[in-house]
Amino acid sequence: MSADPADQAKRLAAARALELVGPGMKLGLGTGSTAKHFVDLLGIRVRDGLKVVGVPTSEATRAQAESLGIPLTTLEETPELDLTIDGADEFDPQLRLIKGGGGALLREKIVASASKRMVVITDNSKRVATLGRFPLPVEVVRFGLEATRRRIIRDAVRYGCEGEVVLRPGKDGRPFVTDEGHHILDCRFGQLPDPDGLASALVAIPGVVEHGLFIGLACAVFVADLSGVVVEGNPG
Ligand code: A5P
Repeated sequence: MSADPADQAKRLAAARALELVGPGMKLGLGTGSTAKHFVDLLGIRVRDGLKVVGVPTSEATRAQAESLGIPLTTLEETPELDLTIDGADEFDPQLRLIKGGGGALLREKIVASASKRMVVITDNSKRVATLGRFPLPVEVVRFGLEATRRRIIRDAVRYGCEGEVVLRPGKDGRPFVTDEGHHILDCRFGQLPDPDGLASALVAIPGVVEHGLFIGLACAVFVADLSGVVVEGNPG
C-alpha cells in the first residue's frame, strides 16, 4: 500500500469503479496513475476468472494490461465499447474534464467516444469550480508548429483565454512525442470562462489534432479521499 494519501485515494476510486465491471464487458482502459490502479485491480479479477476484453488508451497501458494477462482488442475488431474507466487532470461541476497530462488525450478521447459510458476516477484534488488551473494540453502535428501555436493564442482570446502556450518537453529534453507521433502544446490560460466555445475553436484550427477538453463524455466521476468515494453524476 502506498504511503501517499493521494495515491491511496486514487486506488479507492479505482476499486469502486471496478464494481461496474461485469462478465463479457468490452472496456476502454485509461492512462495515468489513477487508471493504472484500475488496470492493476482488473488484472486480479481476470486472474481469478473474469472474462472481459479491453482497448488500451496508450502504449503504457497496453504494456501493463499485457503483463497482467488482460485480453486486449482494438477498435477495428471491437468498435463499440461498454465502459471506459479513465483518470482526469480536472473536472468541473458539469463533469467537463481536462485530460492529457500524461499525453494520451487523443487515444483517450477516441476510446471514450466509442464507449457507451465513460466513468472518471480521481482523487479530490482534481475537483475545480472552473476548469483551467491545469494547463490545457492540445495535440498538434509537427508541420507548421509555430504557426499553429500562434493561431491557438490568437483564437483563444475570443473565449477569454490569455496566457503562454508552450511546447511540452520530453524526458530527453527534446519535444514530447505522443503515441500517435504528434507534439503537445500546453496552454497556460488559467480559468477557462467558456470551455465549450474554446473547444469548438481549437478543433477548427488546422494543425490541431485534438485538445484535452472532454465535454459531454463522462457520465460520472468517482472522487475519492481517504474517507471514501463520492459519486458525481450517474454511472448507469
Ligand atoms: C493521460 O493523458 C491523462 O489524461 C490522465 O488520465 C490524466 O493526466 C490523469 O492522470 P493521473 O491519474 O496520473 O492524475
